[in-house]
Amino acid sequence: MSLFNKALVSIVQLMPKSIVWVFSKKYIAGKTLHNAVDLVKKLNSRGIYATIDVLGEMIKNKDEAVEAKKKCLEVLDAIVENNLMANLSVKPTQMGLSIDEEFAFAQIEELVKKAYSMNNFIRIDMEDSPYTDGTFRIYERLREKFDGVGVVVQAYLKRSYDDVCRLNGYKANYRLCKGIYIEPAEIAYKGKQEIRDNFLKILELIFKSGKYVGIATHDEYLINESFKMIKNMNLTNDKFEFQMLLGVREDLRDKISRDYKMRIYVPFGDQWYRYSIRRLQENPQIAGHIFKNIFSIR
Ligand code: FDA
Repeated sequence: MSLFNKALVSIVQLMPKSIVWVFSKKYIAGKTLHNAVDLVKKLNSRGIYATIDVLGEMIKNKDEAVEAKKKCLEVLDAIVENNLMANLSVKPTQMGLSIDEEFAFAQIEELVKKAYSMNNFIRIDMEDSPYTDGTFRIYERLREKFDGVGVVVQAYLKRSYDDVCRLNGYKANYRLCKGIYIEPAEIAYKGKQEIRDNFLKILELIFKSGKYVGIATHDEYLINESFKMIKNMNLTNDKFEFQMLLGVREDLRDKISRDYKMRIYVPFGDQWYRYSIRRLQENPQIAGHIFKNIFSIR
């Protein structure tokens, strides 16, 4: 982390919550499910899909995890009631993975069962590397029983290409992203271009295997290279979609959504502060974006 980035992170942490909310709200639908539903309706009216995330991660006890799961079940109901073009993203540690893997499996299985009965879909987010193996174990077990569940692969992890080779055996449905956590150099690529190269290598592997992939990036280089691959491989639109985070590169989002399916990650909930600060600590470059947003210097 550069000194400049460290300084930016410290400054943001010293700000009153009300100021932090001013920049966070660009990236978060709001504090309630109602806020998320309203925002997804707006996206849907522009032909854009959503994946809804109930904010929260690293819960400390099983009661908190059960509460979080209840909120996720409410999201699934709201999607049906409001006829939304949306699915649900869920963090394994929010469902209890850091406490008890079997318990987390049962929690996520309940969500997947419900989504399956509604003809919907659960995307299991990928967190930092202590949880990679556990998340894939849970995914593989679920995939043996259910359709309608997908996982995330992080291009910065050196293991990811091999993971995809194995997961293809489970007919996996992927979201491919760079990865947001700070990982040690022994297990993760650090260079911008080497992460991009691995992203494209994995994307090609997934495309060749015929599995579905959400191409989750705002990096124009990767998006343009994906376009080229799609064209060269004559891929049909039912094999992939593009995905972006709420509030990021909306110009690019609108441009891509004219030709391709676009899905926006829509987080909401009262855990917004912890989420914003954690994201900031994990990826201090975001602090730079925040300052650009606040002072409109781009
Ligand atoms: P990069 O960081 O290079 O950004 C490219 C450009 O996008 C920047 O130059 C800037 O213009 C713009 N940009 C990026 N972030 C911005 C911001 N916060 N504000 C303003 N502009 C910004 N990670 C993970 O580890 N596990 C997961 O499960 C997920 N899930 C996920 C879902 C979806 C839908 C997306 C889009 C991303 C994730 N991620 C994730 C995060 C992902 O790993 C990655 O950290 C971010 O997408 C940023 O990487 P980019 O590929 O966009 O490139």
